[in-house]
Amino acid sequence: MSCFASFKEICQPDAELAPLTTFKLGGPARWLLTPRDEAELAAVLNHCYTQKTPWRLLGQGANVLVRDAGVDSAVIKLTGPVWEMVRWEDPLVHVAAGADFTKLVKQSFEHNLAGLENLAGIPGSVGGIIRMNAGGKHGYIADWTHSIRLMDPIGAIITRQRHEIPFAYRHTDLAGGIVLSATFQLQPGQRSELNQRYQAIWGEKKATQPSLGMRTAGCIFKNPPGDSAGRLLDELGLKGTRIGGAEISRHHANFIVADEGATAQNVLDLITRAKEQVRESAGIELELEVEIW
Ligand code: EPU
Repeated sequence: MSCFASFKEICQPDAELAPLTTFKLGGPARWLLTPRDEAELAAVLNHCYTQKTPWRLLGQGANVLVRDAGVDSAVIKLTGPVWEMVRWEDPLVHVAAGADFTKLVKQSFEHNLAGLENLAGIPGSVGGIIRMNAGGKHGYIADWTHSIRLMDPIGAIITRQRHEIPFAYRHTDLAGGIVLSATFQLQPGQRSELNQRYQAIWGEKKATQPSLGMRTAGCIFKNPPGDSAGRLLDELGLKGTRIGGAEISRHHANFIVADEGATAQNVLDLITRAKEQVRESAGIELELEVEIW
């Protein structure tokens, strides 16, 4: 604990992480650090670097499963007004990493700007959305990214233009850095049409996936090339498979839903079972999309 004595105001020891994730599972972090601005974040990263303290960055916890034992390291969360800044310079919008992505999407309609409605119904912080190159059949955040600002692991700030960002399917290689802010380049659109398209895309998701209020972390596995993990798992009859309080969703087989009494281990055991069955029946090694902490 003494490790972060110099950051008393922004450091919480033995902090529960479960309430900060959509699964609402798992144990505490040894330290939870909430730097209030970029200078404070740089100081925290510098401290971690010199003290050889491992750290992880938590966004809105929408794609993370924290183990029951918790995380024996520092967890950094970018929260508070500085990290939620949004500045419009139509057709560009500059957004800090901690801003809520869903709110940003809705604000873009007010500005008659199109693009982000294609990512309807995807929860997360702007930093997390970039980190995952979030998206779906209507496009990826890479398609509307103009540039990002990153902080490297020792606190230096780097700007990367779109063509310099290694976006991939469900992953962006940030070279161990943290997204500070992103600039998106949108296109002129018409508010009511954008809203209609947003509702239609969200409607598609609602019809095929568990609702956002449920305790899930979105899709558990990445899709194997040319196929759908959900389809493969469904074909094996795995929908509704239950271990303890965790269940493979009956709506979409690539989701796991946590009910009352679930543990992170229940989810991990379901993941192992699903992977084994797909390996045995289809010879495919499913890769995790969700991060296990
Ligand atoms: N399918 C089934 N059973 C299921 C699930 C899917 O038969 O339980 C079939 C569907 O009927 C469809 C095909 O599989 O024929 C593809 O399904 P879907 O359209 O639901 O897309 P997906 O490939 O399963 C991907 C993304 C989702 C994203 C949707 C819609 C991945 C891993 N998943 O799912 O992303 O919302 O497309 O754009 O890339 C996420 O990443 O967390 C996520 C939810």
